[in-house]
This record gives sequence, structure tokens and C-alpha cells, in this order.
Amino acid sequence: MKAITKLLHYMKPYKVFAILGPLFMCMEVVMDLFQPTIMQKMIDTGIAQQDNDYVLKMGLLMLVCAVLGLIGGAGSSVYAAKAAVPFAADIRRDIFQKIMQFSNRNSDTVGTGKCITIVTSDIETIKQAVIMTLRVFVRGPLLFIGSVVIVWLSARELFPILLVSIPILMILITFFSVKSGKLFLHVQKAMDGVNTKLQEMLAGIRVIKAFERQDYEKGQFRTVNEVLMQRNMTAEQLVLTLMPMMMFIVNLGIIAGLWLGVIKVNEGTLQVGVILAFINYLNIMMNGLMSSSQVLMQIARSFSSAGRIVQVIETEVDIVEHNASKPYQSVRGEVEFRHVNFSYSKNGESVLTDISFTVKAGQTIGIIGSTGSGKSTLVKLIPRLYDPDCGEIFIGGQNIKQIPLEKLRSMIGFVPQKAELFSGTIAANLRYGDEAATDADLEWAAKSAAAAEFIERFANKYEHQLMQSATNLSGGQKQRLSMARAFIRKPKILIFDDSTSAIDALSESKVQQTLKSANGKQTIFIISAKISSIITANQILVMEDGRMVARGTHQELLATSKVYHDIYASQTGREVQVG
Ligand SMILES: Nc1ncnc2c1ncn2[C@@H]1O[C@H](COP(=O)(O)OP(=O)(O)OP(=O)(O)O)[C@@H](O)[C@H]1O
Ligand SMILES: [Mg+2]
Repeated sequence: MKAITKLLHYMKPYKVFAILGPLFMCMEVVMDLFQPTIMQKMIDTGIAQQDNDYVLKMGLLMLVCAVLGLIGGAGSSVYAAKAAVPFAADIRRDIFQKIMQFSNRNSDTVGTGKCITIVTSDIETIKQAVIMTLRVFVRGPLLFIGSVVIVWLSARELFPILLVSIPILMILITFFSVKSGKLFLHVQKAMDGVNTKLQEMLAGIRVIKAFERQDYEKGQFRTVNEVLMQRNMTAEQLVLTLMPMMMFIVNLGIIAGLWLGVIKVNEGTLQVGVILAFINYLNIMMNGLMSSSQVLMQIARSFSSAGRIVQVIETEVDIVEHNASKPYQSVRGEVEFRHVNFSYSKNGESVLTDISFTVKAGQTIGIIGSTGSGKSTLVKLIPRLYDPDCGEIFIGGQNIKQIPLEKLRSMIGFVPQKAELFSGTIAANLRYGDEAATDADLEWAAKSAAAAEFIERFANKYEHQLMQSATNLSGGQKQRLSMARAFIRKPKILIFDDSTSAIDALSESKVQQTLKSANGKQTIFIISAKISSIITANQILVMEDGRMVARGTHQELLATSKVYHDIYASQTGREVQVG
């Protein structure tokens, strides 16, 4: 309930439509309610007294009512949609913005599947609930109350039937609404499971094929799909049994009405037209209750969706801008880690332990170490993709938490371990690094990353279209574009996380040339499994199990670090005397 109230402020810009919708609906309902009374008059007065003029007049009146009812119904649909559709679109926009603000830790916690279900299914549920509320929720109770009042006024003899049937119907509706709300929350959760699996499978479809794991994945998908089906079945069955149960109660009411009515007609205290009108009103009442119950169930369903939406909107982003104590001044690219500790989850295993080092501006630092030793994690802390648990990181002597996030990230060119590119042209992908980059900049960056040759070979060159996740490029081509995208920013700090693993030796030496010419101007982090890539670095960090086990130049490390020496020996086949 609280969640729904929080979402309702999204309706503010559309409140005029949200009021007009039900108003038009009132017109339709009033017209619907007139019809049986007009018909009763037509039968009991016009036909009984064979007054043809009266019958014609009543017939015309019924036609006018029908047309006005049509206008009311159409108007209410149009305005309900005008209110609900942009309302849902605004929520979707904000959810997307929020997901964009998420820190990596937030994204890991919420999960991709849930984000997809929320943006697609949960928001649709809410939209549907709003449309139904604006259109039907007024209509249902109005039809219901209207028919009860009219029966009271015109067929009081049959009113006791309502006194029995209405409470039974009310209890049924309440029970089914509450129950369906709970069941549909389970459905949405099962949908998260399907979306998570689907997203993972689509991303990894090539691996699935290469390993001939289609059957295994089909089995996995069947499992989550079955859970969704079972839950959906339970929820839908519940919703669908309400209708026949209500029909049954109303039919009993009609039988009772006819039976009681016939007795009264025989006694001469009731006219036949009244019985017909009563049955009509009972049907209208049933109609009203039925639509109200459907709306109630949709609302109950939207409560759980609203809860999930608000949960995402209110997720506390754990990488936050700290109020800079002093105004931000451009800093040089010196990077210092001071006793940094980090773990991916609270109280989780430590991934980085007591890391301290300094890289002077314009220098190059190499990072080497076994797989899983924390190299990627270490560099992810620099653009604040994660914050350390304790310890501090400084750039140009300024704590990175005091630097506005946008400024911090714009001074860093990050080449991640796995090249991530987007659908669109090569140029658009490179301009991710710098929107204002000119064509000359693109060419320069591509050349620097040894990407120019393969781009030139495409018919459309820089306008060549990449598919989703750049699946129409080779691994090495993706890595080169990813590097060019970082170069184009001309950042103070360049970070290469194992970025040359899929690049041939010739191209790598071209990239090395670029880096050499950047030496002195840009601070460069190079993570590499190959000693040859970092041999000329001003200093090299050797990582093991989240700890920095050695630091120094290549020559120093050969002399002092057994780990480094072993890596060197294994890669070159040369033994060096350790001093
Ligand atoms: N998002 C994450 N959530 C939880 N644990 C993670 C996450 N990313 C990495 N880890 C764990 O943190 C540790 C360090 O990972 P990291 O990616 O920094 O290693 P690495 O040195 O870069 O390895 P590699 O050379 O294979 O790239 C590993 O044990 C890994 O399992
Ligand atoms: Mg790594």
C-alpha cells in the first residue's frame, strides 16, 4: 500500500486525465442504469395500455441513452489510457535512470533478471491496474450501488434477496483479491528466474553451442519455466474460479426473484415488469461486482509489483558523491593507495588486503600475479566502480571520494578485461570515450590502438555497424576498439586490464609504441599476464591472494621476488640468479 502511494505522485502531471476518465465513466453508468427502468415503463405502461406513442417515446429515449453511454464509455477509455500510459512510461524512465546510477555492488545484489521483469512486466501490471481503476473501478461500484438503490425504490418486495446474496458475494471478492495478490507476487519472482536464465543464455549462446550444451540448458530453462507455469496456473485458476462462483450466486438470486415475484404477482401486489427489471438489475449488479472484483484483483497484483518497483527506486546507491569539502581543482594523475582493503560482500572473504603504493604522474605501473589474485579488483577501485572497505585512494593528492564522480571518471580511460561494445557504428562506439571527438580524433585513436587497419577494410569504415555486443567482430578487434575508446579521451590515467591478451605480437608492439609516447604525459596501469608487456614499466606490483607481495622495477624484482622470478623463468625459459 505504501509503495502504491509512493508511485502515485507519478500521476500528478496527468491528474486531469485521471479525473476525466472516471467522469466520462459516470455518464456511461448513469445511462446503463436508466435502461431497465425505461424498459419497465415501456412494458408496464406503454405495452399494457397499448399506448404506441408512449412505446415509441421510450424507445427513442433508450436510443439517446445508448448513444450518450457510448460517448461516456469511449471518453473514459481514451482518458484512462492518456493517464496510465505516460504514467507507466515515466516510472520506466526513472527505473532505468536508477539502474544507471547503480554501483556494481547494487547491480550484483538486485540482479539482471529482476531488473528486466520490473521494467517490462511489473510496470505493465501497474499500468493495467491504473487503466482498470480509472475505467472500471468507478463503473463497478456505481453500477452496483445504483442497482441496489433502484431495487430498493422500485422493487422493495424483492429486496431481501439482495440482503442475502450481497454479503456472500462481498466475502468471496475480498478473499479472492487478497489471495491473488500474494499468488501474483510469487509469479513475478518466478518471472525473475526465467528472465535471469534467458538473459544468461542469450549472452552465452555461442558457448552453449560450442560445448553442445543445448540439452542441458533446455533442461535448466524447463525447470524455471515450469516453476513460472505452476505459479501462474495456481494464480490464474484462482482468479478464474471467482467468476463462475459469483454467477452461481446471482443465478440463485434470479431463481429466488422469479419465485418470490410470481407469488407477489399472483397476490396482485407486483407487476410483471418489476420482476423483469429486478432480474435486469441483478445482472447489472453482478456486472458491477464482477468488474470491481477484477479491478481489485489487478490492484492487489499491482501492490506486489509496486513494492518491487519502489524497492529498486529506493535502493541506496552505495557509491555516492561526497560533498567536496573544498572546491574541486584539476589534479595531476598521481595515484596513491593507502592501506586499502576490499571484499565484494559484507563480511565476505577479503579480496584485497592492505594495498599501499604510489604511482607518480606520467609513470607506468605494471601489475602481474596469478589468476584471481585481485588485479582487476584493484584497478576497479580507481574509477570508484567499488569503494574500498577501508583505506584510501588519492589522485593528485586528493582523496577520490572528494572528487565529483563525473570528473573522476572523465580523467580515466578504462580498458576492461572483457571488451564491452554496443550495437551501433564503430564511430559511435569510439565516441563513447569522448562525444566531441572529431573524425581526425577517431582515426588517431584507432591508429594508436592498432585498429585503423581493420576498420579501413570495412566498406563503410567508421560507419560500419556493430551488432549487439559487437558479435560481428573478432575478440582481438573488440579489444582494439575498446582500447581506442579509452585513448580517445586523452585521459590523465589509462588503465589496461589484460587488454592485449587477444592481440597479435605485431599489433601489441604498435600499442606499446603508443604507450611509450604517452609516457610522461599519462599515468598508465597495465595488468598483464605477460612480463613482456610490463617489462619497461617504472614499477611493477606483484599480486598474490589479494596481497601485494613485491614491488619494484623489472630488474629489482628479478633480484628480490621469488614469485616474479618464477613467472619470468616460466615465460622466458631463462633462470636468473636471485640475489
Ligand atoms: N563481482 C564479484 N563478486 C564477488 N566476487 C568477485 C567478483 N569479482 C571478482 N570476485 C572474486 O574476487 C577475486 C579477485 O578477482 P579479480 O577479478 O580481481 O582477479 P584477477 O587478479 O583480475 O584475476 P584474472 O587474472 O583471472 O583476471 C576472485 O577470487 C574472484 O572470485
Ligand atoms: Mg582480472
